[in-house]
Amino acid sequence: MGIFLILIVAIACNDSKTNTGDNGKNYESKIDSIINIMTLEEKAGQMVQYTSGWDVTGPVIDDNYEEYIASGRVGSIFNAHTSAYNRNLQKIAVEETRLGIPLIFGYDVIHGYKTIFPISLGESASWDLDAMERSARIAAEEASAAGLHWTFAPMIDISFEPRWGRVSEGAGEDTYFVSQVAKARVKGFQGEDLMALNTLAACAKHFAAYGAPQAGRDYHTVDMSERVLRDVYLPPFKAAIDAGVRTFMTSFNEYDGVPATGSEFLFQQILREEWGFDGFVVTDYTAINEMIEHGVAKDLEGASELAINAGIDMDMQGGAYLNHLIELVDSGKVKESQLDEAVRRILRIKFELGLFDDPYRYSNEEREKETIMKDEFIEAARDIARKSIVLLKNDNNTLPISESKIKNIALVGPLSSTKEVLGSWHASGDYEKAVSLKEGLENNLPANIKLAQTEGTGFDTDDESGFAAAKRIAAQSDVIIMALGESEHMGGEAASRTSIEIPGNQMKLFNELKATGKPIVAVLMNSRPLAISELDNKADAILETWFLGTEAGNAIADVIFGEYNPSAKLPVTFPRSLGQVPIHYNMKNTGRPIDHDEKYTSKYIDSPNDPLYPFGYGLSYTSFDYSDLSLNSKKITKDDELKVSVKVENTGEVDGEEVVQLYIQDLVGSVTRPVKELKGFKKLMIKAGQTETVDFTITEKDLRFYTKNMDFASEPGEFKVYVGGNSEDVMEVLFTLE
Ligand code: GLC
Repeated sequence: MGIFLILIVAIACNDSKTNTGDNGKNYESKIDSIINIMTLEEKAGQMVQYTSGWDVTGPVIDDNYEEYIASGRVGSIFNAHTSAYNRNLQKIAVEETRLGIPLIFGYDVIHGYKTIFPISLGESASWDLDAMERSARIAAEEASAAGLHWTFAPMIDISFEPRWGRVSEGAGEDTYFVSQVAKARVKGFQGEDLMALNTLAACAKHFAAYGAPQAGRDYHTVDMSERVLRDVYLPPFKAAIDAGVRTFMTSFNEYDGVPATGSEFLFQQILREEWGFDGFVVTDYTAINEMIEHGVAKDLEGASELAINAGIDMDMQGGAYLNHLIELVDSGKVKESQLDEAVRRILRIKFELGLFDDPYRYSNEEREKETIMKDEFIEAARDIARKSIVLLKNDNNTLPISESKIKNIALVGPLSSTKEVLGSWHASGDYEKAVSLKEGLENNLPANIKLAQTEGTGFDTDDESGFAAAKRIAAQSDVIIMALGESEHMGGEAASRTSIEIPGNQMKLFNELKATGKPIVAVLMNSRPLAISELDNKADAILETWFLGTEAGNAIADVIFGEYNPSAKLPVTFPRSLGQVPIHYNMKNTGRPIDHDEKYTSKYIDSPNDPLYPFGYGLSYTSFDYSDLSLNSKKITKDDELKVSVKVENTGEVDGEEVVQLYIQDLVGSVTRPVKELKGFKKLMIKAGQTETVDFTITEKDLRFYTKNMDFASEPGEFKVYVGGNSEDVMEVLFTLE
C-alpha cells in the first residue's frame, strides 16, 4: 500500500480510536482522510470496474485492465478469481499506484463457486430457507478462499415470464416468497461480519423490474405502474437491505421511460432517500453506454452525466466513468462532491471487508486448497439438490423404483448422460466434477436392477436415427426413464425463447417409447416453466429437476430409488400453454370472473383459465390431509395478532415433508386486490400416520399495500385466510380488520 495511504490510515485509525463508533468500525474519519488527499483522477478511478480476461460475461470493451490498475484508474476487477491470480492483480494496485488503495474483486457466484448448487429457481423450489442460506454460505466459503470479496448475487427479480431465460436465476413469481429468499441468501453470503475471511459482500440485482420484459425478450422494455412496481417488484430489494446487503446493481431495462442506470427516481428517491441505503451501486455490464442506444443520451459523456446524477457509484466495464467523469467535473456539469459521495460508499465497503487492514487477506492458497469442494460441501450440494426436486405426477406409485418390482431400467433422452447439469452462471464449476443422471443411477443402483442407456435423440433436432436403439432397450426394460427438456444453454442471460414447449423431436421419441406400454418416468431438466400438457397426460410420473448442479445425478437417483421423499413445491406457475402467459396465482378477479355457464365472462374458448401446475404445487410419496383451520378471533384491530391454526395429517405409509402455505385475500380495497397473496409458509416433517398442528400469525402490517392514494397502508374490511399445500387446494376462513 502506498506510503501516503499507510500514514493517512494510521493517523485516522488513531483518530477513530478517540471517535466514538461501533467498536472502531466507524470508518468515516478514515475515509475522509483518504478522500482529502485523492486527486480527481484517483476518485474517478475508484468508480471504474473492469473485467479480467479470465471470464467474459458481456461485450468486451478492451482488456488493458492491468495498465489501468497501475495508473490508479480502476477500483474493482470482476471475473478474476483464484488466490494467486487475484493476489497478482492486487499487488499492482497496492504497490504500483500512488495511494495503494486495494481493489475489490467481484464475480457472479450465483449458486455456488466451485461446488455448484441448483439454479436459483430450482433451489427456491425447496422452500427451505435454511438450505438456501447454507448454499449461499458454502458459496461464500469457497469464493472468499479463492481471492474474491464480492458476489453479484442474489438475483431477486420477480418474474412469471417463462419466455425469459433469466427467470431461472431468481426465486419465482411471489413477492413475499422472494423477499424471504432474498434475506436468506444475503445472510448466507455476508454472514455476520464482512471482515470475516469466509464472507462475501452481496449484491441485490437487478434494480429494478428487470423480470418483466415485454414479450419475455431479454433487455426489452418494461412498462408498469408505480403501484405494481412498489407492490410487487420492489419489496425483495427492501428485504435485502433489511438483511444488510451492501451493494446493488442496476438493471438494463428502462422504467417509466428512463433506463434504470440513469433513474434518479429509483436510485436517489427510492434507494437513498426512502430506504436510506448506504452501500454502493454498480451498473450492470456497460449499462451506462447502453443509454445511448436507449436514446436518452447522445454520447458517452451525456450517459455518464445521467448515471452520476442518478447516484450510480461504479461503472462496470463501460469505460464511461474512466473517460468522462473528469471532463464532466472540469466543465462544471458534475460537482466533485458527487464523486466524493460515490468514492465514500465504495471505500466504506472496502474497509468493511478488511481490505485496508490486509489487501491480500482473501488470497491464501493454502486455505483455498483446503476449502474448495470439501466433502461436507459436496454432501450439502446433494442434500439441497434433492430438496429442490418437484414431484409433479406419480400415477400408480410408479416411483420410487424398487428392486421388488423392477429388474431392468431403460434410461433414454438427451439429458440422460450429459454432465452439463450445472445450469447457467455456474461460476468456476467444473463439468468434469458434475454427476450426470446416468452416473447417479449407476452409483446408487439397487443390486438386482440393471440399467441400459442411450440418448435416443438430441435437444433440438428432427433426427430420428437414435430412436431404434432407444426403443430396443425400452422393449427389454420394466420401466423407462426419459431425461428430457432443455439444454442448460437455453436458459440464463440472452436466452429468451418464443416457445416454452419441449424442443425438437423429444416428445416424438417419448410417444414412441410410450407405445411400448412400459411405465415411463419423465425426468425434466429445464431453466424455465415449460408447457408440458402432453407429457402430463401421458407420463406415469414426472420429476421437475431443473439443473441441480454438481450432485445432480446422485440427487435424482436418491428420489427415484426412494432414498429421499420429494418435498419441493413450484415457486413459479407452469402454464398449460404460452397463450395463457402472463399467468400467476396472484392475479386480479376482474369484473367478469370465469363462469362456464356464462358466455360473457373472462375465459378462453380453447383452454381452461387455470394453469397446468399452480404456484406452490408439488407432490410427495405420501399424502397430507388438512383439517380444523381455525382463528383465535373473527376480527382484529391494528394492534392485534390474528392466530391461525391448522391440522395436517400424513395419511400415507412413509414420512414426508410438507410445505404448509398461508395466503390472504383482501375482499374489498380502494383499488383491486389479488385473489390471493402468500403471507407465510412452514416446511415440516410429518411422520407417517401422524398429525401436526401448524400455527401462523397475521398482523395488520401483513395487510398493507399501496392504496388508491399511493399510501402504504391496510384498509379495514373483510379478508379471507387460505391454507393448503399449494395455492389452489386450500381451506378458507373469514376475518375482519376493524
Ligand atoms: C451480466 C448480468 C449480470 C452480471 C454481470 C456481470 O450482463 O446481467 O447479472 O452480474 O453482467 O457478469
